[in-house]
Amino acid sequence: MNNAADHRTIVALDFADRTEAEALVARLGDACGSYKIGLELLTAAGPGLVRELVGQGREVFLDLKLFEIPNSVAGAVRAAGALGASMVTVHSMGGTGIMAAAVGAAREFPRLKVLALTVVTSMTGGDLADIGIAASTDEQVLRLARLAAEAGCDGVTAAPGEAGALRALLGPERLIVTPGVTLPGGESGGHARAGTPWAAFAAGASHVVVGRSVTRAADPVAALRRIAAGG
Ligand code: C5P
Repeated sequence: MNNAADHRTIVALDFADRTEAEALVARLGDACGSYKIGLELLTAAGPGLVRELVGQGREVFLDLKLFEIPNSVAGAVRAAGALGASMVTVHSMGGTGIMAAAVGAAREFPRLKVLALTVVTSMTGGDLADIGIAASTDEQVLRLARLAAEAGCDGVTAAPGEAGALRALLGPERLIVTPGVTLPGGESGGHARAGTPWAAFAAGASHVVVGRSVTRAADPVAALRRIAAGG
């Protein structure tokens, strides 16, 4: 694995099967050092793909979006750590108990970072109201991020437009990982609060997650290099 690969840009392997995912990984080659595997691919392909990527020296963000009783969350985090994952997500809306369980379980895996999901990027204020939350999305994101920090999480995932306020709240060290970014010229892909990778980095994101803007580009390597080059 080329150490020069940009580890701040994480490519989302949102594929329905392992063959497609492996084809994209092969196509990106040394240009990409970090991948996100979510529930679709993990369920379809199994954990062997995670081991394979880790074995190749790549970092794997397992986007498990855990929301369970603390005992089950801890078990899933240990399983992610044993696979060699570098990042795993837990829902902060589940409260301090499940976040603390995730953080505790990750301690035996020093390279594994626990990220708290705040508000899923597709949710609007209306969606929050529907589930009985009167706060705006911005207020709710900050409230949950504060709770996540207090529970010991290494960082949060959040929309690009929230990165600045989160950086101010969380200080310089914590990870702020922003999905929901698009490259200009691409489709907005259903993100209610879309932004570019560069805006996210400038606002304080430590990492961005990019999916279709790279994986469906005519030239995925060029799209990825465009991000690393700053536009
Ligand atoms: O839209 P894109 O293909 O770049 O999505 C990449 C990742 O961003 C997805 O794996 C998903 O987890 C996340 N995402 C999100 N909110 C959305 C759409 C995608 O957090 N509305």
